[in-house]
Amino acid sequence: MDFAVSNRPLDKFKADALILVLGKNGDLPETLPESTRDQLTRFIKAGDFDGSKGQMCWLHQPEGLAAARLLLVGRGDKQPSDQQWQGLLRSTVKMVSKAPVKHALWLLDSDLPQNLAWQAREGTRVAEESTYRFDQYRSKPAPASKLSKWTFWHAQKDTALSKASKIGKGVADGVNLARDLGNLPPNDCYPEYLSGVARDLGKQYEKLTVKVISQAQAEKMGMGAFVAVAKGSERQGQIIVMEYKGAKPTKQGPVALVGKGITFDTGGISLKPGANMDEMKYDMGGASSVFGSVKTVCELDLPIHLVAVVAAAENMPDGRASRPGDIVKTLSGQTVEILNTDAEGRLVLCDALTYVQQKHKPHTVIDVATLTGACVVALGAHAQAVYANDDGLSQALLAAGQETGDRGWPMPLWDEYQGQLDSPFADMQNIGGPKAGSITAACFLSRFAKDVKWAHLDIAGTAWISGGMSKGATGRPVPMLTRFLMDQC
Ligand code: BES
Ligand code: MN
Ligand code: ZN
Repeated sequence: MDFAVSNRPLDKFKADALILVLGKNGDLPETLPESTRDQLTRFIKAGDFDGSKGQMCWLHQPEGLAAARLLLVGRGDKQPSDQQWQGLLRSTVKMVSKAPVKHALWLLDSDLPQNLAWQAREGTRVAEESTYRFDQYRSKPAPASKLSKWTFWHAQKDTALSKASKIGKGVADGVNLARDLGNLPPNDCYPEYLSGVARDLGKQYEKLTVKVISQAQAEKMGMGAFVAVAKGSERQGQIIVMEYKGAKPTKQGPVALVGKGITFDTGGISLKPGANMDEMKYDMGGASSVFGSVKTVCELDLPIHLVAVVAAAENMPDGRASRPGDIVKTLSGQTVEILNTDAEGRLVLCDALTYVQQKHKPHTVIDVATLTGACVVALGAHAQAVYANDDGLSQALLAAGQETGDRGWPMPLWDEYQGQLDSPFADMQNIGGPKAGSITAACFLSRFAKDVKWAHLDIAGTAWISGGMSKGATGRPVPMLTRFLMDQC
């Protein structure tokens, strides 16, 4: 969809629909022509619309406006939270997409708690995301919606609003790439496919260079934990490295993102139960959010030095697969007893974390992973778990999530939990028992992030929507990550 910000007088603005979000108090925007307000007052009095939450109502040939129709959207009697405002816009876009509307006009509202730039930015992002479809595997895709232009209207000219809208579009492009990669079936989306995605991005953006470390190279380099996961599959594991130089490299080093890219997680020899196992195609959600973030950074041409690493592998049971009890040596030199082959995410991530520190000397590393079912138990689908060895970094990520409605919640990394990883035979074991599963997974990773600011996002509950016809990748936490990166610039 194309987006614009405009202050053209509404009595001359020819659009197919003007959208008005109204509360239960019956207040009408002062910016509407008087004849429009009179007509709306009569309409509301007649009882057709009262501004209740979720109410939507079309009104054709409104008086005093050049728009062909009005869509009245009720927002209830309370000021909407950020999430509610985003939800309202999402359902409005869905409604408008079904109507014969090509060009829709949305009034920015200076009476909301959310400022106008926020509305333009998040509005653009959420509207663009709401038109997302994943149709490429249907033999007869549903006919495309007519909706192709969305204009945010405000009475005063304000160039900051167009800038905000452009940022929103850049973030949505990243989110939608992440969703596409997540939704792809695991027979088509395997580690070498992801390398191809990275190479294509490298061709598309001048400031991005791409390097791929093959499974054989990874083995020679000493990434024993990564290889222990990858070797159970016919598909070769890949360590994908993307370096974006939007700013000159400095002494303090780049920011690094590291994504878990398990293109399918069967559990390996510690095989998962069958129910809903298909959803383990989303176990590359960390990787897809890293790809999405790279895309946004490139699209917005951010002045930043960023290194992004994806640890891509398929976790399969096989004659060559790792066994429970195997002991492997990680790139860091530390040894790990693999007690459960289904705790594979931390195994691929630990070597990617060590690699990016050794090779690129970043000042900050953030890893992103659909790491534990325990995280879904703890936080559900609304917040990703945020772990960090640095308070400033943790605060910055939480603030970025708050600002974009892509929220995180802080979790502890206390030493007291580390003991759960003690192994009788190796430096550590890869599982910490039934208690605090998301925390002990983070504790495992913390051992591979020394002398660097490090954060870990467990996105097991937020990366995709489970089950039913609304199943699909969310593209989270691209909004949080890219907001964080913009704040670093
Ligand atoms: N990819 C899963 C985590 C997961 C499970 C995310 C379900 C979302 C929904 C991960 O690789 C895994 O299997 N973790 C195990 C760890 C356990 C063996 C310590 C888990 O959470 O059960
Ligand atoms: Mn697993
Ligand atoms: Zn997994």
